[in-house]
Amino acid sequence: MTQRTLVLLKPDAVKRGLVGQILARFEAKGLTIVAMEHRTIDAGQADAHYAEHVERDFYPPLRDFVTSGPIVSLVLEGDEAIEVVRALNGATDGRKAAPGTIRGDFSLSNRENLVHGSDSPESAEREIALWFPGL
Ligand code: PPS
Repeated sequence: MTQRTLVLLKPDAVKRGLVGQILARFEAKGLTIVAMEHRTIDAGQADAHYAEHVERDFYPPLRDFVTSGPIVSLVLEGDEAIEVVRALNGATDGRKAAPGTIRGDFSLSNRENLVHGSDSPESAEREIALWFPGL
């Protein structure tokens, strides 16, 4: 089933110059970029994106991190894109993510973990509307 999913390349990916390598992995897998933007978000956009986590202890530093510099946001399309992207991203904590995944190869953190991918069709719909209204 063809799906669309919202992907974020977080500020660490941009600062470390990993955008090209990460996008190449998604494209090599066969996913299609249907929208893409480079921008720095404010706290309101961060809170809206992470609405289900804003009360968690880990959220304030996560908000500081995701507003600390530019993010590349994109929508990827392809067969089972939501699950495929999460598999390519790897486990949340880069220290535990499997080698061969983006986080497993490039991250040692559960905050500075380079990428975000929608976790369900409902999340994808909500997140795509938030980041790319009208798409
Ligand atoms: S949970 O607990 O399963 O609901 O959370 P999870 O899906 O693993 O993570 C949700 C996002 O929160 C980030 N996260 C953290 N940031 C900082 N510190 C800690 N301890 C932490 N734990 C989780 C994690 O990177 C996820 O970000 P996204 O952008 O959704 O991948």
